[in-house]
Amino acid sequence: MADIRNIVVLTGAGISAESGIATFRGPGGLWEGHRVEDVCTPQALARDPELVHRFYDLRRAALAGVEPNAAHRALAKLDAEWPGELLIVTQNVDDLHERAGATRMLHMHGELLSALCADCGERAAWSGDMPPGEICATCGAPALRPDIVFFGEMPYDMDVIERALARADLFVSIGTSGAVYPAAGFVQTAKYHGARTLEMNLDPSEGSGWFAESRRGPAGELVPAWVEAMLKS
Ligand code: APR
Ligand code: ZN
Repeated sequence: MADIRNIVVLTGAGISAESGIATFRGPGGLWEGHRVEDVCTPQALARDPELVHRFYDLRRAALAGVEPNAAHRALAKLDAEWPGELLIVTQNVDDLHERAGATRMLHMHGELLSALCADCGERAAWSGDMPPGEICATCGAPALRPDIVFFGEMPYDMDVIERALARADLFVSIGTSGAVYPAAGFVQTAKYHGARTLEMNLDPSEGSGWFAESRRGPAGELVPAWVEAMLKS
């Protein structure tokens, strides 16, 4: 793979599954009988902020007891050692990529450990117990909410991602069902610009047909093997 220099990696809930974090659409993907699409919307936050906060409070609490797995660690190694461009784009709101040591990465769907002011747009660290309507330290509005990109909201850093996709020689998708746009369309963008495409997922995803190559299995096995091969190439 000597001709590959620029890589974009997209990760989804499947990469954190082996750490013990539940995925969205697999078994147990419902939360208190709600589909995530019904809980994680600006309308739901306006209608029932307690419910939406509780959803994320529980997911934040679950983070405390988990660790990055072999797939996160392998990507962190790629991040440290890959001589070309690399961008890891995660749809995950956990912090397992960072905890494994990745730095060339961004959270397109926000972060559990961050708070967003719905009034001025400032972001701050999530601290302890933050009920709906906490005061923003920047503008004073009682408007702090989870810094999560809800359905119907624009993901973060789309300009950076689009630029990286346009330059990519290789696009790799790991542990995502390909059900949620715009991330589900990244494979098409990368292909359009001439990138090779590789998917690593436990089950066939909605986007599998777009990928030149699909590998089936647990990320904790597939990703370390792929990273070793890339770093030897
Ligand atoms: N290794 C690899 N893939 C796995 C593993 C594993 N150990 N376990 C599960 N998977 C795969 C499943 O086969 C599934 O295709 O991970 C995928 C997870 O899909 P989703 O639960 O739909 O998660 P994701 O694609 O990240 O969801 C996208 O939806 O609710 C929103 O904003 C949320 O970012 C999220 C977005
Ligand atoms: Zn503010």
